[in-house]
Amino acid sequence: MSRSAHPAGPRHADVYPEGHYTAPAADLNALDEKVWARTVRRNEDGVVTVGGMEVSRLAEEFGTPAYFLDESDFRARCRAWADAFGPDADVFYAGKAFLSRAVVRWLKEEGLNLDVCSGGELTTALDAGMPAERIAFHGNNKSVEEIERAVRVGVGRIVLDSFQEIVRVAHIAQSQGKRQRVQIRVTVGVEAHTHEFIATAHEDQKFGIALADGQAAEAVRRALRLDGLELIGIHSHIGSQIFDMAGFEVSARRVVQLLTEVRDEHGVELPEIDLGGGLGIAYTSEDDPREPHEIAKALTEIVGRECEAAGLSTPRISVEPGRAIVGPTAFTLYEVGTIKPLEGLRTYVSVDGGMSDNIRTALYDAEYSVALVSRTSDAEPMLVRVVGKHCESGDIVVRDAFLPADLAPGDLIAVPATGAYCRSMASNYNHSLRPPVVAVNDGEARVIVRRETEEDLLRLDVG
Ligand code: LLP
Repeated sequence: MSRSAHPAGPRHADVYPEGHYTAPAADLNALDEKVWARTVRRNEDGVVTVGGMEVSRLAEEFGTPAYFLDESDFRARCRAWADAFGPDADVFYAGKAFLSRAVVRWLKEEGLNLDVCSGGELTTALDAGMPAERIAFHGNNKSVEEIERAVRVGVGRIVLDSFQEIVRVAHIAQSQGKRQRVQIRVTVGVEAHTHEFIATAHEDQKFGIALADGQAAEAVRRALRLDGLELIGIHSHIGSQIFDMAGFEVSARRVVQLLTEVRDEHGVELPEIDLGGGLGIAYTSEDDPREPHEIAKALTEIVGRECEAAGLSTPRISVEPGRAIVGPTAFTLYEVGTIKPLEGLRTYVSVDGGMSDNIRTALYDAEYSVALVSRTSDAEPMLVRVVGKHCESGDIVVRDAFLPADLAPGDLIAVPATGAYCRSMASNYNHSLRPPVVAVNDGEARVIVRRETEEDLLRLDVG
C-alpha cells in the first residue's frame, strides 16, 4: 500500500521520524465513513455514537476492550451482496471471518448461505438454525468425523480439497447410502496481490488441486466415476484482502476453461462455479475497496462471455465474502492506559487489550486507523503507536497513527474495521480474557458473545 512521505513540516514538537504513516488528517475529530460502520457518528457533545448509542455509555455498561458491531450495517451488506449477484447466484458468508449464533440468524433472515470450515463452525451454524442444505463445508484437512457429520446432516456441498479427500468423501457418503453434492477446489495459478499468508491460488501452498499439469482435470475424472459423489462444480478462492479485480477475472476465466474441458471430455456440463471470497475492505483512508456490485458485474460478465464463446450454458455462480460483509461493521473500543513519549521517536499509547484481540497487525503487518472517541480535542496531532498489554514488543494494534497530543489515561479510543478476523482469531495469550461482541442496533445494545471470565479460564484447566 502506498504511503506518503513526511507531512509538510512538523506540527508536533518532535520531528516526525521516518515511518509508515500518512500525514495527520486535517481534523483528527473527523470520522472517515470509509472505515467506520454505517451508523457511527459524533454527536454535539463530541462523543462518538453507534446505532445512536454513546461509546462512553457502552463502555460503562459492557467494559473495555469490547467489539461493537453495527447490526443494521451487517444486514445492509448482506443485502448488497445478495442484490448485486441476483437470484441466479448464491452468496455464502465465510464464517471464519466472524461467526456466532446471532450472525447465523441474521444471515438466514437476509437470505444468505454459509461457508464453514470446521466442526465447530458447523455446530454453531446448525445450532442457530441454518438449514444444512444452505451450508458449504470447506477445509484442506477435514477429519473423517467432520466429513461423516457433514454428510449425515446433509450439507449442501462439500468442497473437495485433495485426491485423498475425493475418495474419503465418496466412501463415507456411500456407507451412509447417500450421494453427496461436491465441488472440487482448484488452484488457478494466480498470484493475488496481498500478504503471502492470505494468498491462496498460487501453486506452492496447501490448498486445492492445481489446474496446471492436468491435475484438476484428473480430479474431475475420478470424482465423476464415484457413486457416492454428485460433482456439481468447480471452486476457486484466490486469497483475501484483494483490491485488484484482475486476479478474480483470471480465476473466473480459468475455471470456465476447465468446465469446457470437462464438457469436451465427458459430455457433462457442471452446473455451478464458486469464485470464493477475498474482496478487500478499507482499514485506512488510503484504501479504496470495490463494491459488491462491481465485483458481481465483472464476474458475471466474464463468466457469461467465456461460456458463450465455448458454447457452454452459463453455470450458477456463487461467492464467499467474509471480510467484506462483517469487517467494516465493527470497531474495537479500548481505554487508554499508560502513555509513554519517546523523544524523537513516537509516543507509545497502551490500551487494555492488544494482540489477543487483534493479531492481524503482528501477523500480517496489517494497517489500522484509530480515533479518540470519548471526546473531541483541538490539540496538535501526535504520532503514536497503539500497543497492547501483552509481554512482547510485537504487541502492536496500530503501528503508526496520529492522535491528539492531549490524550490522557482514561480516554476511550476506537479502532475501526475490526469485524473480521479479530474476535475469530482472538486468543487467551497471557491468560487475558477474550472481549465480548456487542451488537448495536437502533438505540439498543445486546451482547452476542459474552466476555470471557477467569472462571472460563479455570474451567479448562483441569490439572
Ligand atoms: N472462501 C474460502 C475458501 C476462504 O478460505 C476464505 C478465507 C474466504 C472464502 C473468505 O475470504 P474473505 O472474503 O474474508 O477475504 N485471517 C486472514 C484472512 C484469512 C482468510 C482465509 N480464508 C486475515 O485476517 O486477513
